Amino acid sequence: MTAVFFAMPGNESLAAALASGTATELGSLEYRKFPDQESYLRFLGNVTGRNAVLACSLHDPDGKTLPLLLAAAALRDLGAKSVGLVAPYLSYMRQDRRFKEGEAITSLAFARLLSGAFDWIATIDPHLHRYASMAEIYSIPALVGHAAPVLVDYLRQRHGTIFLVGPDEESEQWVSSVAKAAEAPYVTLRKTRRGDNDVSINFPDIMKFDGLTPVLIDDIISSGHTMQVAVTQLVALGFGQPVCLAAHGILAADAMQRLKAAGAVIVTTNTIPGPTAALDVNPLLVELIRPKLIGESKP
Ligand code: R5P
Repeated sequence: MTAVFFAMPGNESLAAALASGTATELGSLEYRKFPDQESYLRFLGNVTGRNAVLACSLHDPDGKTLPLLLAAAALRDLGAKSVGLVAPYLSYMRQDRRFKEGEAITSLAFARLLSGAFDWIATIDPHLHRYASMAEIYSIPALVGHAAPVLVDYLRQRHGTIFLVGPDEESEQWVSSVAKAAEAPYVTLRKTRRGDNDVSINFPDIMKFDGLTPVLIDDIISSGHTMQVAVTQLVALGFGQPVCLAAHGILAADAMQRLKAAGAVIVTTNTIPGPTAALDVNPLLVELIRPKLIGESKP
């Protein structure tokens, strides 16, 4: 029997793209809040013996996680053979160690929660900084896709007119491989983060790129302060309308307005839907999960 996809609220177009791309079924999940703000969930149709997959990107995750865990538990309770999760953006990857005594390592706790609820997870470019792989914290199979080919396609359209800028040392490896594939020159900057909203960046001499448009490239734009500080300095150096390009555009609070006011154009993928999400990674997700679905559908 083929798999059946369900959309958690707000993920309807993702679930539809995955079901249609993998030639499987799109199921229906009724979700609403009771007056006391508890969640009501009802799966319409029979899931007994089916390989069920929940589609849920996990930006702004706290309000999404409990309904997601309740949905996974309900699918098991209703007799689903397996329950997978496609989360194009996977949250809680950045607190990957105890920086101060007593801090929660939320990446680990969150990974344990999801590993207990799902049989497998698929995501795009999880923030693996101090972890070498998802297997260090996730005890279920994790399928990891990369947005780089989609970013490279975008960059190739501007071939010869751009240079890439990685905002910090940890972006070096990623930026250099994207730059190589896009045949664009690149530079990486040196970032110091003193707090959530307190970032400073040191620039090397970049005047050799005079006349080219800077494309700042990062895995995540979260508060936007990393990009904002870099954009402001690039504009002050005389570079025209920098592009902020990222796999995941969280763009928390007023990040979008601040970046635009600083003079930037923002381009992100649709791992997180929104007005900047111009680049489609759903075909990458389809190819990523297809072998898993085929394997699961075998008797
Ligand atoms: C850093 O580790 C990441 O690659 C990004 O540079 C960072 O998460 C961006 O955060 P923000 O937008 O809050 O400066």
